[in-house]
Amino acid sequence: MNAGLEGVVAAKTVLSQVNGVEGRLIVRGHDIEALAGQMSFEAMAALLWRDLAPTNLTETQTATALEIARQDAFEKVPALLTAAKGLTVVEGLRTGLSLLSENEDSHVTVTAAIPVFIAALHRASQGLAPVAPSLGRAQVADFFAMLNGEPASELLVGALETYLLTVSDHGMNASTFTARVVAATRAGTVASTVAALCALSGPLHGGAPGPVLDMLDEVGDFSRVDGWIDRHLGDGERLMGFGHRVYRTRDPRADVLKGVVNRVQNTRARMALAEAVEKAAIGALAARYPDRNLETNVELFTAVLLEGIGLPRELFTPVFAMGRVLGWTAHIYEQVASSRLIRPASSYVGPLPEGAPLLAVAG
Ligand code: ACO
Repeated sequence: MNAGLEGVVAAKTVLSQVNGVEGRLIVRGHDIEALAGQMSFEAMAALLWRDLAPTNLTETQTATALEIARQDAFEKVPALLTAAKGLTVVEGLRTGLSLLSENEDSHVTVTAAIPVFIAALHRASQGLAPVAPSLGRAQVADFFAMLNGEPASELLVGALETYLLTVSDHGMNASTFTARVVAATRAGTVASTVAALCALSGPLHGGAPGPVLDMLDEVGDFSRVDGWIDRHLGDGERLMGFGHRVYRTRDPRADVLKGVVNRVQNTRARMALAEAVEKAAIGALAARYPDRNLETNVELFTAVLLEGIGLPRELFTPVFAMGRVLGWTAHIYEQVASSRLIRPASSYVGPLPEGAPLLAVAG
């Protein structure tokens, strides 16, 4: 039995390769460093969806399709805000995606709806009215405008766009696997995306960056770093932003994001503390798990970056979904094309009816 399915290959994919030994991420034939920060969100969407989605669109056509779909999503906002009263933004987003109908371009529908819903849910939590999407704006710039009620600087838009591309696809991670399991039942793209978002929201996956900032807040000062780490590891807790199922070395995405953080203003003090925590955490984890090589993952610098560009921490996981939805939707089409239901086996260890012979059967 292999409870975490480590090393089990359950799909062939043209989307991404996570090389955990070399610390290398290849997405559709390119190193992640050659994509993130080098192309637009729309170009990345076109690249990931190419030859998998029902229609191949250029970057410009993708931008137009997303613009129109954001307008459609905004029509759902009144129903969303009624249904999501009292929910957190990630819970509200889950609810919002469930309001969408399956259609032949569901990948565009869900990708466009996510920023519209996040912005409206956040503004509602602040007692503010939703701001409508604008035709003629690209997805990331439009997100900032819908969130803050005014356009953001090119630097902030570029920083968020780099982040979204960095996390847009990453092999058979927990949420992508979830999407593929649901897609394999032919439940549809919207249903598969809702399921993927639920998997993403856990603190061991996409829910980590909020707790990373909580950790940095609690540590507070350089003099407290070692003591805080020893105490928390001693209590058997996990250090958020460290460790990975696949990487046996540094997560390459951490360095892509570190480069962007250094360009964003007001991150210097946070970054210095994060780097001190990083150094101490890697040392303490190596001492505790000498055979495991636990290093920094993408979430440490995600937290510093998203805070630096002015996003509140309860938006971190939903904003992760804004990027990862590109990978989810591409994997959903790829899974449906492979036409194989995913159905692993379990080993029964419960009691047997009296008199039944003891058989080791996996089923
Ligand atoms: N802090 C403390 N201990 C850790 C950490 C950590 N960050 N990561 C792993 N360990 C421990 C495990 O508890 C385990 O100890 P045990 O054998 O005594 O139970 C040992 O190291 C080996 O664990 P792994 O097999 O390497 O971990 P696994 O592959 O099961 O989990 C995971 C990977 C969930 C990412 C883990 O490293 C973790 O919990 N990290 C903190 C949460 C986090 O940062 N999540 C974001 C991941 S990136 C992403 O999903 C986008």
